[in-house]
Amino acid sequence: EEIKVFAPATVANLSCGFDVLGCCLDNVGDEMIIKKNDLHKLRITKLEGQDLPLEVDQNVAGVAVKAMLEKLQSNEGFDIEIYKKIKAGSGIGSSAASSAGAVFAVNKLLGAPLKNIELLPFAMEGERLASGNAHADNVAPALLGGFTLVKSYEPLEVLSLPSPEELNVVILHPQIEVKTKDSRAIIKRNISLDKAVSQWGNLGALVSALYTNDYELLGRSLKDEIVEPIRSILIPYFDEIKTISLESGALGFGISGSGPSVYAMCRGEENAEKVKSSIAQFMEKQSITYDLHLSKIN
Ligand code: HSE
Repeated sequence: EEIKVFAPATVANLSCGFDVLGCCLDNVGDEMIIKKNDLHKLRITKLEGQDLPLEVDQNVAGVAVKAMLEKLQSNEGFDIEIYKKIKAGSGIGSSAASSAGAVFAVNKLLGAPLKNIELLPFAMEGERLASGNAHADNVAPALLGGFTLVKSYEPLEVLSLPSPEELNVVILHPQIEVKTKDSRAIIKRNISLDKAVSQWGNLGALVSALYTNDYELLGRSLKDEIVEPIRSILIPYFDEIKTISLESGALGFGISGSGPSVYAMCRGEENAEKVKSSIAQFMEKQSITYDLHLSKIN
């Protein structure tokens, strides 16, 4: 018995929603094949596309599935094959895709004893291994789709939010690696009340915009005065690309997850294509190789 899954890439934070907001991309992701084995052993049997560890305890998919099997007191064995298309350290939820995809598939093979939302704590164990912190803002949209909001971590409560139909996201991945661990280490732990007020004002407005399909308000809410000013230093040409995207009509622009990828949220595919080609035109003149994707949120 085997199952093949598409493990989607995700954009976390979305500017004002550090560690709580995320969305799922419809056409960027990894492939995974999971098979039951008769050995009562969990194994990562194949890992193509990236140089990542095969040892179960060192691999995010292995750690996530192990936590789940322990909780279910299952002694079933599984072979996990991972075909990575999302680069590790790219900022579009590479580790989350593997963790979420693995627990989703194993749950299916076990006859679905758990609901998708109940798989979150296990997928988060993969994030803990990858970044030192069990955040859910990538694994939640990877498992549930669309936009998700982590209402609280303790107790874990995650909400699904609506996805306005015309939203398109352009993702630019400059090919430098930024480790989430490192880009978390540089953020300040304390913030001023003024900054907190503007951040939660924007986050509330953004959630309202998703419910009311108010694209203009959504764009005005995609702001981040807390994390972006610090992390953007690690991203080459951040300010220039932001200006180009907004001048080409993007609703909002920011860092995807912990970077170095950046996202431009756009209304309609036509505008997204325009933003994408403006970014490409600029990047062609630089000496950094890059990937550019255009996705819908699903
Ligand atoms: N919310 C996390 C961060 C996402 O920004 O560090 C990284 O995957």
